[in-house]
Amino acid sequence: MNLADKPPAAQIDSAVFKAGMRRLAAAVCLITSVRSDGSRIGLTATAVSSVTADPPTLLCCINRGSASHAAIRAAGVFAVNVLALEDRILADRFASQQTDWEGRFQQGLWLQLQTGSPVLESALASFDCRIAQAVDVGTHGIIFGEIQAIRVRDSNAKSLLYAHGSYGGFASYVHEQSAELLWMPPWEDHRAGG
Ligand SMILES: Cc1cc2nc3c(=O)[nH]c(=O)nc-3n(C[C@H](O)[C@H](O)[C@H](O)COP(=O)(O)O)c2cc1C
Repeated sequence: MNLADKPPAAQIDSAVFKAGMRRLAAAVCLITSVRSDGSRIGLTATAVSSVTADPPTLLCCINRGSASHAAIRAAGVFAVNVLALEDRILADRFASQQTDWEGRFQQGLWLQLQTGSPVLESALASFDCRIAQAVDVGTHGIIFGEIQAIRVRDSNAKSLLYAHGSYGGFASYVHEQSAELLWMPPWEDHRAGG
């Protein structure tokens, strides 16, 4: 579309935008990467989505003003670590304003898969990615990652979610018609193709 044809941006109050988005419950992830000098960097993020299974691709939206954004774009690789409830403290740690990025990794056991990006041992799942594409939209960069390796944790650890400005967990309906919530169903076994 020609820029001259672009309609004027809608007048949306940013406070209302944020209030609406706070109602969009989301899984809490740590997006991590490694610089050329071997130092690690990462941030807490909820703006993560599956894109397609063929080729296996996800996307994440990262503030272009963050140190992590520049480092991830430069590295060309990153990992998305889906946090368990028990790792809530890591969510605070990786969202802090302190610039001791390597210090954020002093908690937790960190591994590597294919790309060298830090993978959290206790994450519910980790997706090790190479950047396939990046698109800048406003303040954020949308980074598409082609998944090179996946680590899925075999346990019934609970998911850490974020909604209404708070951390919480997931509960499932006991029966379809029931208002009763069950704290946590057992995960299906991914090895059985579930
Ligand atoms: C629950 C939660 C979700 C967040 N989601 C995102 C996100 O999706 N994208 C983003 O750029 N920042 C997100 N942030 C903010 C970053 O984690 C935070 O700004 C971090 O300090 C950036 O690190 P850096 O500037 O040191 O790289 C989130 C923070 C919290 C607490």
